[in-house]
Amino acid sequence: MAPSLESQRPTLEDGETAPSKVTIVGSGNWGSVAAKLVASNTLKLSSFHDEVRMWVFEETLPSGEKLTEVINRTNENVKYLPGIKLGQNVVADPDIEHAVKDANMLVFVTPHQFMEGICKRLVGKIREDAEAISLIKGMEVKTEGPCMISTLISQQLGINCCVLMGANIANEIAVEKFSEATVGYRENREMAQKWVGLFGTPYFMVSAVQDVEGVELCGTLKNIVAIAAGFVDGLEMGNNTKAAIMRIGLREMKAFSKLLFSSVRDSTFFESCGVADLITTCLGGRNRKCADAFARSGGKRSFDELEAEMLQGQKLQGVSTAKEVYEVLSHRGWLELFPLFTTVHEICIGRLPPSAIVEYSEHTPKFSLLDGSTQLY
Ligand SMILES: NC(=O)c1ccc[n+]([C@@H]2O[C@H](COP(=O)([O-])OP(=O)(O)OC[C@H]3O[C@@H](n4cnc5c(N)ncnc54)[C@H](O)[C@@H]3O)[C@@H](O)[C@H]2O)c1
Repeated sequence: MAPSLESQRPTLEDGETAPSKVTIVGSGNWGSVAAKLVASNTLKLSSFHDEVRMWVFEETLPSGEKLTEVINRTNENVKYLPGIKLGQNVVADPDIEHAVKDANMLVFVTPHQFMEGICKRLVGKIREDAEAISLIKGMEVKTEGPCMISTLISQQLGINCCVLMGANIANEIAVEKFSEATVGYRENREMAQKWVGLFGTPYFMVSAVQDVEGVELCGTLKNIVAIAAGFVDGLEMGNNTKAAIMRIGLREMKAFSKLLFSSVRDSTFFESCGVADLITTCLGGRNRKCADAFARSGGKRSFDELEAEMLQGQKLQGVSTAKEVYEVLSHRGWLELFPLFTTVHEICIGRLPPSAIVEYSEHTPKFSLLDGSTQLY
């Protein structure tokens, strides 16, 4: 079991609330940066316990040592965020139930495909007053329809769940380069402000908007557009083409989000989670990088192979999200409305060549399929 850092705090006066305890569930590239951000704030703010527990999916490193032991000894996640000190108050814990037991603020930040299993393990194991935030980009598609990860967390664990998304390539925030992020919340503005306080730093500016689904869908769908941008780069089509693909992608992101949730606000697409995240992901993210290599191989190398070779254990999200969105589109008869999303999936599975990403003249969205009252674009 991981060691504990006990902070020396005075006993509470009447009316004072106990300091919140934070646990990070996940410890990949972004999970580790999230731990660093949070840990710098819990040390400064008296409303939080100093210690930040970080659940680590245990791995044995090539040296034979356990990843958690190395993190706790060196204060670095040598596999997913080498060279960056997390803060002495971050404690890596390989036991998920132990890691969440005392926490009333849970930060979920794992690749989305693992979340259903994680939630099942946590049922009945968390505090009743726990609040959650999801930094996870992706969705689950079930027979009854798409389920956002924040909804999965809320429903399975019976807790409120905000989201935090933005133009946040983890390695840049790790070295404290300025960026912004958006917290999406449902009703509890006070809780949203608490999350803003927990994550915000002078180099990481966080603001809150009352639109969980809009924020989360922006973060999720932009990974599909980044795959399209990577194809354009791999085919060396230039900046105008890439900008066109990004614009068409943003339009489809907005249309898809509004069709799924009429509550989604137009203004959310102008927050960091919207257009800013789209831009950074299409310029620099891992989805773009792997799609570029896929197109350069003429579609002959699989994304699984490229992920394993290029990402050192990190996970691609865009390919699985494209598949999930395709399932929703196909189930609801919306394929013709979303030519870019549809084409990305068909290229990923080898049904179309990478060059199909720019063959739109025959594929303008068929708005007539929609109820005339639905304002999408
Ligand atoms: N990296 C970024 O720049 C970035 C930025 C913003 C958001 N995100 C999002 O954050 C989320 C987490 O991404 P990341 O970059 O921290 O992770 P990552 O892709 O760097 O690392 C993969 C993680 O998955 C863990 N893992 C592997 N197998 C597992 C299993 N069976 N069960 C549970 N965990 C397992 C690994 O231990 C590792 O911690 C994703 O939804 C991603 O889209 C990432």
